[in-house]
Amino acid sequence: MKNVAVMGYGTIGSGVVEILERNKETIARKVGDTVSVKYVLDLREFPGTTVEDKIVHDFSIIVKDPEVTMVIETMGGLKPAYPFVKACLEAGKHVATSNKALVAAYGTELLKIAKEHNVNFLFEASVGGGIPVIRPLYTCLAGEEIEEITGILNGTTNYILTKMEKAGETFETALREAQDLGYAERNPEADVEGHDTCRKIAILTAMASGHEVNFEHIYTEGITKITDVDFAYAESLGTSIKLLGSSRMEKGAAHAFVAPVMIGRDHPLYSVSDVYNGILVKGNMLGTSMFYGSGAGKLPTASAVIADIIEALKNEDQHVDFGWDDQGLAISSMESMSFRYFVRIKGIAAKRMKEVEEVFGKVEGIELDHMDEFAFLTEVMTEEEYDRKAKELSGIRQRIRAEF
Ligand code: HSE
Repeated sequence: MKNVAVMGYGTIGSGVVEILERNKETIARKVGDTVSVKYVLDLREFPGTTVEDKIVHDFSIIVKDPEVTMVIETMGGLKPAYPFVKACLEAGKHVATSNKALVAAYGTELLKIAKEHNVNFLFEASVGGGIPVIRPLYTCLAGEEIEEITGILNGTTNYILTKMEKAGETFETALREAQDLGYAERNPEADVEGHDTCRKIAILTAMASGHEVNFEHIYTEGITKITDVDFAYAESLGTSIKLLGSSRMEKGAAHAFVAPVMIGRDHPLYSVSDVYNGILVKGNMLGTSMFYGSGAGKLPTASAVIADIIEALKNEDQHVDFGWDDQGLAISSMESMSFRYFVRIKGIAAKRMKEVEEVFGKVEGIELDHMDEFAFLTEVMTEEEYDRKAKELSGIRQRIRAEF
Protein backbone atom coordinates (compact mmCIF):
# COMPACT_ATOMS: atom_id res chain seq x y z
CA MET A 1 0.00 0.00 0.00
CA LYS A 2 1.21 3.52 -0.84
CA ASN A 3 0.41 6.16 1.75
CA VAL A 4 -0.20 9.75 0.70
CA ALA A 5 -1.14 12.92 2.57
CA VAL A 6 -3.37 15.70 1.27
CA MET A 7 -2.61 19.23 2.46
CA GLY A 8 -5.74 21.41 2.17
CA TYR A 9 -9.23 19.88 2.12
CA GLY A 10 -10.90 22.56 0.04
CA THR A 11 -12.48 22.15 -3.38
CA ILE A 12 -9.53 20.46 -5.10
CA GLY A 13 -8.23 18.54 -2.06
CA SER A 14 -11.64 16.99 -1.40
CA GLY A 15 -11.88 16.19 -5.13
CA VAL A 16 -8.56 14.32 -4.96
CA VAL A 17 -9.77 12.26 -1.98
CA GLU A 18 -13.06 11.56 -3.80
CA ILE A 19 -11.36 10.34 -6.99
CA LEU A 20 -8.87 8.19 -5.04
CA GLU A 21 -11.93 6.45 -3.58
CA ARG A 22 -14.18 6.35 -6.66
CA ASN A 23 -11.48 5.25 -9.11
CA LYS A 24 -9.61 3.14 -6.55
CA GLU A 25 -9.22 0.02 -8.70
CA THR A 26 -8.17 1.83 -11.88
CA ILE A 27 -5.61 3.84 -9.93
CA ALA A 28 -4.29 0.72 -8.13
CA ARG A 29 -3.89 -1.09 -11.45
CA LYS A 30 -1.89 1.80 -12.90
CA VAL A 31 0.28 2.36 -9.83
CA GLY A 32 0.70 -1.39 -9.20
CA ASP A 33 -0.46 -0.98 -5.59
CA THR A 34 -3.36 0.54 -3.66
CA VAL A 35 -3.14 4.25 -2.77
CA SER A 36 -4.38 5.22 0.67
CA VAL A 37 -4.84 8.70 2.18
CA LYS A 38 -3.16 8.54 5.59
CA TYR A 39 -3.50 12.21 6.57
CA VAL A 40 -5.47 15.27 5.55
CA LEU A 41 -3.96 18.53 6.79
CA ASP A 42 -6.49 21.28 7.37
CA LEU A 43 -7.38 23.84 10.02
CA ARG A 44 -10.96 22.52 10.08
CA GLU A 45 -12.33 19.20 11.43
CA PHE A 46 -14.88 17.78 8.92
CA PRO A 47 -16.88 15.63 11.39
CA GLY A 48 -19.09 12.97 9.84
CA THR A 49 -17.06 12.79 6.61
CA THR A 50 -14.78 10.01 5.34
CA VAL A 51 -11.70 12.02 6.28
CA GLU A 52 -12.81 12.73 9.85
CA ASP A 53 -10.23 10.36 11.41
CA LYS A 54 -7.44 11.40 9.03
CA ILE A 55 -7.49 15.12 9.80
CA VAL A 56 -4.31 16.51 11.34
CA HIS A 57 -3.51 20.13 12.16
CA ASP A 58 0.21 19.68 12.64
CA PHE A 59 2.30 19.57 9.45
CA SER A 60 5.24 17.93 11.24
CA ILE A 61 3.22 14.69 11.60
CA ILE A 62 3.20 14.36 7.79
CA VAL A 63 6.76 15.39 7.08
CA LYS A 64 8.16 13.10 9.80
CA ASP A 65 6.16 10.00 8.84
CA PRO A 66 8.36 7.71 6.70
CA GLU A 67 5.28 5.78 5.56
CA VAL A 68 4.04 8.84 3.65
CA THR A 69 5.92 8.77 0.36
CA MET A 70 3.86 11.38 -1.46
CA VAL A 71 2.18 14.65 -0.48
CA ILE A 72 -0.54 16.46 -2.41
CA GLU A 73 -0.61 20.23 -1.93
CA THR A 74 -4.02 21.77 -2.61
CA MET A 75 -3.91 24.64 -0.12
CA GLY A 76 -3.23 27.40 -2.64
CA GLY A 77 -1.26 30.59 -1.93
CA LEU A 78 2.37 30.74 -0.89
CA LYS A 79 2.23 30.64 2.88
CA PRO A 80 2.45 28.00 4.18
CA ALA A 81 2.33 26.04 0.90
CA TYR A 82 5.90 26.98 -0.08
CA PRO A 83 7.71 26.02 3.18
CA PHE A 84 5.58 22.87 3.51
CA VAL A 85 6.24 21.67 -0.05
CA LYS A 86 9.93 22.45 0.26
CA ALA A 87 10.18 20.49 3.52
CA CYS A 88 8.35 17.51 1.98
CA LEU A 89 10.72 17.38 -1.02
CA GLU A 90 13.74 17.72 1.29
CA ALA A 91 12.34 14.83 3.34
CA GLY A 92 12.38 12.71 0.17
CA LYS A 93 8.63 12.78 -0.50
CA HIS A 94 7.11 13.27 -3.95
CA VAL A 95 4.82 16.28 -4.28
CA ALA A 96 1.93 17.02 -6.66
CA THR A 97 0.33 20.45 -6.56
CA SER A 98 -2.50 22.35 -8.22
CA ASN A 99 -1.08 25.66 -6.99
CA LYS A 100 -0.05 27.90 -9.92
CA ALA A 101 1.05 30.72 -7.61
CA LEU A 102 3.52 28.33 -5.95
CA VAL A 103 4.82 26.89 -9.23
CA ALA A 104 5.19 30.31 -10.89
CA ALA A 105 6.99 31.83 -7.89
CA TYR A 106 9.12 28.91 -6.65
CA GLY A 107 9.01 26.28 -9.43
CA THR A 108 12.71 26.59 -10.29
CA GLU A 109 13.85 26.04 -6.72
CA LEU A 110 11.35 23.24 -6.01
CA LEU A 111 12.26 21.37 -9.23
CA LYS A 112 15.93 21.59 -8.24
CA ILE A 113 15.27 20.29 -4.72
CA ALA A 114 13.18 17.44 -6.16
CA LYS A 115 16.08 16.45 -8.42
CA GLU A 116 18.61 16.61 -5.58
CA HIS A 117 16.43 14.31 -3.47
CA ASN A 118 15.52 11.96 -6.34
CA VAL A 119 11.80 12.63 -6.02
CA ASN A 120 9.20 14.26 -8.28
CA PHE A 121 7.58 17.66 -8.12
CA LEU A 122 4.57 17.57 -10.47
CA PHE A 123 2.00 20.25 -11.28
CA GLU A 124 -0.25 19.21 -14.16
CA ALA A 125 -3.29 20.75 -12.42
CA SER A 126 -1.67 24.18 -12.09
CA VAL A 127 -2.51 25.14 -15.70
CA GLY A 128 -5.73 24.39 -17.57
CA GLY A 129 -7.38 22.51 -14.65
CA GLY A 130 -8.15 19.06 -16.00
CA ILE A 131 -6.78 19.68 -19.50
CA PRO A 132 -3.60 17.71 -20.10
CA VAL A 133 -1.06 20.30 -21.21
CA ILE A 134 2.01 20.21 -18.95
CA ARG A 135 2.67 16.50 -19.54
CA PRO A 136 2.15 16.68 -23.33
CA LEU A 137 4.74 19.47 -23.43
CA TYR A 138 7.45 17.21 -21.97
CA THR A 139 6.34 13.90 -23.46
CA CYS A 140 4.38 13.95 -26.75
CA LEU A 141 5.82 17.31 -27.85
CA ALA A 142 9.32 16.68 -26.48
CA GLY A 143 10.90 16.73 -29.95
CA GLU A 144 9.36 20.06 -30.95
CA GLU A 145 10.79 23.54 -30.78
CA ILE A 146 7.77 25.33 -29.34
CA GLU A 147 7.27 28.58 -31.23
CA GLU A 148 4.09 29.85 -29.61
CA ILE A 149 1.62 29.13 -26.83
CA THR A 150 -1.57 31.16 -26.73
CA GLY A 151 -4.49 30.31 -24.53
CA ILE A 152 -7.69 31.19 -22.76
CA LEU A 153 -6.35 30.09 -19.40
CA ASN A 154 -8.89 31.43 -16.94
CA GLY A 155 -12.39 29.98 -16.72
CA THR A 156 -13.87 32.74 -14.55
CA THR A 157 -13.00 35.60 -16.91
CA ASN A 158 -14.02 33.54 -19.93
CA TYR A 159 -17.42 32.99 -18.30
CA ILE A 160 -17.78 36.74 -17.63
CA LEU A 161 -16.79 37.71 -21.18
CA THR A 162 -19.13 35.08 -22.64
CA LYS A 163 -22.06 36.48 -20.62
CA MET A 164 -21.23 40.01 -21.76
CA GLU A 165 -21.09 38.81 -25.36
CA LYS A 166 -24.07 36.45 -25.51
CA ALA A 167 -26.47 38.04 -22.99
CA GLY A 168 -25.39 41.68 -23.38
CA GLU A 169 -24.59 41.89 -19.65
CA THR A 170 -22.36 44.52 -18.10
CA PHE A 171 -19.07 43.45 -16.55
CA GLU A 172 -20.48 44.03 -13.03
CA THR A 173 -23.59 41.87 -13.59
CA ALA A 174 -21.62 39.06 -15.24
CA LEU A 175 -19.09 39.11 -12.39
CA ARG A 176 -21.88 38.91 -9.78
CA GLU A 177 -23.35 35.91 -11.62
CA ALA A 178 -19.93 34.22 -11.76
CA GLN A 179 -19.60 34.77 -8.00
CA ASP A 180 -23.11 33.39 -7.32
CA LEU A 181 -22.24 30.26 -9.32
CA GLY A 182 -19.02 29.81 -7.34
CA TYR A 183 -16.69 30.42 -10.33
CA ALA A 184 -15.35 33.75 -9.13
CA GLU A 185 -13.97 34.38 -5.66
CA ARG A 186 -15.53 37.03 -3.40
CA ASN A 187 -12.31 38.93 -4.10
CA PRO A 188 -12.07 38.36 -7.85
CA GLU A 189 -8.92 40.42 -8.42
CA ALA A 190 -6.56 37.52 -9.31
CA ASP A 191 -8.88 36.42 -12.09
CA VAL A 192 -10.28 39.68 -13.49
CA GLU A 193 -6.98 41.58 -13.35
CA GLY A 194 -5.25 38.78 -15.28
CA HIS A 195 -2.84 37.70 -12.50
CA ASP A 196 -4.03 34.06 -12.64
CA THR A 197 -3.55 33.93 -16.42
CA CYS A 198 -0.14 35.57 -16.02
CA ARG A 199 1.11 32.83 -13.70
CA LYS A 200 -0.24 30.14 -16.03
CA ILE A 201 1.39 31.54 -19.18
CA ALA A 202 4.63 31.96 -17.20
CA ILE A 203 4.56 28.25 -16.28
CA LEU A 204 3.77 27.21 -19.88
CA THR A 205 6.52 29.47 -21.22
CA ALA A 206 9.04 28.00 -18.79
CA MET A 207 7.97 24.46 -19.75
CA ALA A 208 8.22 25.27 -23.46
CA SER A 209 11.57 27.05 -23.30
CA GLY A 210 13.21 24.97 -20.56
CA HIS A 211 14.19 28.17 -18.72
CA GLU A 212 12.93 30.05 -15.70
CA VAL A 213 10.36 32.78 -16.40
CA ASN A 214 9.81 35.66 -14.01
CA PHE A 215 6.05 36.19 -14.17
CA GLU A 216 6.51 39.76 -12.92
CA HIS A 217 8.15 40.62 -16.26
CA ILE A 218 5.03 39.67 -18.24
CA TYR A 219 2.78 42.60 -19.24
CA THR A 220 -0.62 41.88 -17.67
CA GLU A 221 -3.90 43.62 -18.38
CA GLY A 222 -7.22 42.22 -17.12
CA ILE A 223 -10.81 42.55 -18.32
CA THR A 224 -12.17 45.18 -15.92
CA LYS A 225 -12.17 47.91 -18.60
CA ILE A 226 -14.04 45.81 -21.19
CA THR A 227 -17.64 46.97 -21.55
CA ASP A 228 -20.90 45.85 -23.16
CA VAL A 229 -20.35 48.65 -25.71
CA ASP A 230 -17.09 46.98 -26.81
CA PHE A 231 -19.04 43.78 -27.40
CA ALA A 232 -21.65 45.66 -29.46
CA TYR A 233 -18.85 46.78 -31.80
CA ALA A 234 -17.32 43.28 -31.74
CA GLU A 235 -20.65 41.80 -32.82
CA SER A 236 -20.94 44.20 -35.74
CA LEU A 237 -17.42 43.20 -36.79
CA GLY A 238 -18.13 39.46 -36.39
CA THR A 239 -15.42 39.21 -33.75
CA SER A 240 -15.11 38.29 -30.08
CA ILE A 241 -13.01 39.57 -27.18
CA LYS A 242 -11.08 36.99 -25.15
CA LEU A 243 -8.56 37.27 -22.33
CA LEU A 244 -5.44 35.68 -23.82
CA GLY A 245 -2.16 34.63 -22.27
CA SER A 246 0.38 34.38 -25.04
CA SER A 247 4.07 33.65 -25.54
CA ARG A 248 5.93 33.78 -28.82
CA MET A 249 9.41 32.34 -28.53
CA GLU A 250 12.44 33.81 -30.13
CA LYS A 251 16.09 32.88 -29.65
CA GLY A 252 16.75 33.42 -25.94
CA ALA A 253 13.61 35.53 -25.37
CA ALA A 254 9.84 35.39 -25.41
CA HIS A 255 7.23 37.93 -26.40
CA ALA A 256 4.75 37.24 -23.61
CA PHE A 257 1.66 39.13 -22.51
CA VAL A 258 -1.75 38.81 -20.90
CA ALA A 259 -4.51 41.05 -22.30
CA PRO A 260 -8.01 41.06 -23.76
CA VAL A 261 -7.69 40.59 -27.52
CA MET A 262 -10.30 40.99 -30.25
CA ILE A 263 -10.19 37.85 -32.42
CA GLY A 264 -12.07 36.83 -35.55
CA ARG A 265 -14.38 33.88 -36.21
CA ASP A 266 -11.60 31.91 -37.88
CA HIS A 267 -9.39 32.03 -34.77
CA PRO A 268 -9.32 28.58 -33.12
CA LEU A 269 -10.04 30.15 -29.71
CA TYR A 270 -13.13 32.06 -30.95
CA SER A 271 -15.56 29.31 -29.89
CA VAL A 272 -13.99 28.62 -26.49
CA SER A 273 -16.78 29.93 -24.25
CA ASP A 274 -18.11 29.85 -20.70
CA VAL A 275 -15.74 28.36 -18.12
CA TYR A 276 -13.84 26.36 -20.71
CA ASN A 277 -10.16 26.87 -21.46
CA GLY A 278 -8.41 26.41 -24.79
CA ILE A 279 -4.66 26.34 -25.34
CA LEU A 280 -2.92 26.53 -28.74
CA VAL A 281 0.58 25.14 -28.93
CA LYS A 282 2.58 25.71 -32.09
CA GLY A 283 5.60 23.49 -32.68
CA ASN A 284 8.10 23.95 -35.49
CA MET A 285 7.44 20.45 -36.91
CA LEU A 286 3.88 19.67 -35.79
CA GLY A 287 2.30 23.03 -36.54
CA THR A 288 -0.58 24.05 -34.26
CA SER A 289 -2.36 21.74 -31.79
CA MET A 290 -5.21 22.79 -29.56
CA PHE A 291 -5.98 21.55 -26.06
CA TYR A 292 -9.54 22.19 -24.94
CA GLY A 293 -11.62 21.33 -21.88
CA SER A 294 -12.57 22.13 -18.30
CA GLY A 295 -9.97 24.55 -17.08
CA ALA A 296 -11.28 24.73 -13.53
CA GLY A 297 -13.61 22.93 -11.15
CA LYS A 298 -13.33 20.29 -8.46
CA LEU A 299 -13.20 16.95 -10.27
CA PRO A 300 -11.52 18.05 -13.55
CA THR A 301 -8.68 19.72 -11.63
CA ALA A 302 -8.44 16.88 -9.11
CA SER A 303 -8.24 14.43 -12.03
CA ALA A 304 -5.02 16.12 -13.21
CA VAL A 305 -3.61 15.80 -9.67
CA ILE A 306 -4.48 12.09 -9.70
CA ALA A 307 -2.49 11.62 -12.93
CA ASP A 308 0.51 13.18 -11.17
CA ILE A 309 0.03 10.87 -8.18
CA ILE A 310 0.05 7.85 -10.51
CA GLU A 311 3.12 9.10 -12.36
CA ALA A 312 5.09 9.73 -9.16
CA LEU A 313 4.12 6.47 -7.44
CA LYS A 314 4.82 4.44 -10.59
CA ASN A 315 8.30 5.96 -10.68
CA GLU A 316 8.77 5.95 -6.94
CA ASP A 317 12.54 5.48 -6.95
CA GLN A 318 13.16 7.70 -9.90
CA HIS A 319 13.26 11.43 -10.56
CA VAL A 320 11.45 12.32 -13.81
CA ASP A 321 13.62 15.05 -15.29
CA PHE A 322 11.25 17.72 -16.54
CA GLY A 323 10.57 21.39 -16.02
CA TRP A 324 13.16 24.10 -16.51
CA ASP A 325 16.60 25.31 -15.45
CA ASP A 326 17.49 28.45 -13.50
CA GLN A 327 18.73 30.43 -16.52
CA GLY A 328 16.21 33.26 -16.73
CA LEU A 329 14.41 33.66 -20.07
CA ALA A 330 14.26 37.28 -21.22
CA ILE A 331 10.74 38.63 -21.73
CA SER A 332 10.54 41.28 -24.46
CA SER A 333 8.90 44.58 -23.57
CA MET A 334 5.27 45.10 -24.54
CA GLU A 335 6.30 48.21 -26.53
CA SER A 336 8.09 45.98 -29.05
CA MET A 337 5.07 43.74 -29.72
CA SER A 338 2.81 44.29 -32.72
CA PHE A 339 -0.99 44.21 -33.01
CA ARG A 340 -3.85 45.86 -34.82
CA TYR A 341 -5.79 48.14 -32.50
CA PHE A 342 -9.54 48.57 -32.09
CA VAL A 343 -10.08 52.13 -30.88
CA ARG A 344 -13.26 53.90 -29.73
CA ILE A 345 -13.20 57.68 -29.94
CA LYS A 346 -15.61 60.48 -29.07
CA GLY A 347 -17.25 62.36 -31.94
CA ILE A 348 -18.81 61.77 -35.33
CA ALA A 349 -16.92 59.72 -37.91
CA ALA A 350 -17.85 62.08 -40.76
CA LYS A 351 -16.20 64.94 -38.87
CA ARG A 352 -13.18 63.22 -37.30
CA MET A 353 -12.10 60.44 -39.70
CA LYS A 354 -9.74 62.71 -41.62
CA GLU A 355 -7.98 63.63 -38.37
CA VAL A 356 -7.77 59.93 -37.38
CA GLU A 357 -6.28 59.00 -40.77
CA GLU A 358 -3.74 61.80 -40.59
CA VAL A 359 -2.43 60.19 -37.40
CA PHE A 360 -2.90 56.47 -38.05
CA GLY A 361 -2.91 56.25 -41.84
CA LYS A 362 -5.34 53.76 -43.37
CA VAL A 363 -7.97 52.59 -40.84
CA GLU A 364 -11.28 50.73 -41.00
CA GLY A 365 -14.13 52.77 -39.48
CA ILE A 366 -17.05 51.25 -37.54
CA GLU A 367 -20.20 53.13 -36.51
CA LEU A 368 -23.09 51.98 -34.32
CA ASP A 369 -26.49 53.69 -34.23
CA HIS A 370 -27.30 56.33 -31.60
CA MET A 371 -23.76 56.79 -30.30
CA ASP A 372 -21.76 59.93 -29.56
CA GLU A 373 -18.66 58.05 -30.71
CA PHE A 374 -17.30 55.80 -33.44
CA ALA A 375 -14.56 53.21 -33.65
CA PHE A 376 -11.73 52.33 -35.99
CA LEU A 377 -9.31 49.48 -36.57
CA THR A 378 -5.69 50.26 -37.31
CA GLU A 379 -3.21 48.35 -39.44
CA VAL A 380 -0.60 46.26 -37.59
CA MET A 381 1.89 48.38 -35.64
CA THR A 382 4.06 48.12 -32.56
CA GLU A 383 2.65 49.05 -29.19
CA GLU A 384 5.22 51.84 -28.99
CA GLU A 385 3.98 53.27 -32.30
CA TYR A 386 0.33 53.00 -31.23
CA ASP A 387 0.97 54.76 -27.89
CA ARG A 388 2.87 57.57 -29.61
CA LYS A 389 0.15 58.13 -32.22
CA ALA A 390 -2.77 57.81 -29.80
CA LYS A 391 -1.40 60.76 -27.81
CA GLU A 392 -2.10 62.97 -30.83
CA LEU A 393 -5.86 62.30 -30.71
CA SER A 394 -8.25 63.60 -28.08
CA GLY A 395 -11.29 61.68 -26.81
CA ILE A 396 -10.01 58.07 -27.09
CA ARG A 397 -12.30 55.97 -24.86
CA GLN A 398 -11.04 52.49 -25.47
CA ARG A 399 -8.29 50.53 -27.17
CA ILE A 400 -8.27 46.78 -27.49
CA ARG A 401 -5.54 44.83 -29.23
CA ALA A 402 -6.85 42.96 -32.24
CA GLU A 403 -5.60 39.92 -34.13
CA PHE A 404 -7.71 39.17 -37.17
N1 HSE B 1 -9.76 30.88 -10.90
C1 HSE B 1 -9.23 29.95 -11.86
C2 HSE B 1 -10.07 30.04 -13.15
C3 HSE B 1 -9.26 28.57 -11.30
O1 HSE B 1 -11.15 30.63 -13.11
O2 HSE B 1 -9.64 29.55 -14.18
C4 HSE B 1 -8.46 27.57 -12.07
O3 HSE B 1 -7.10 27.85 -12.08
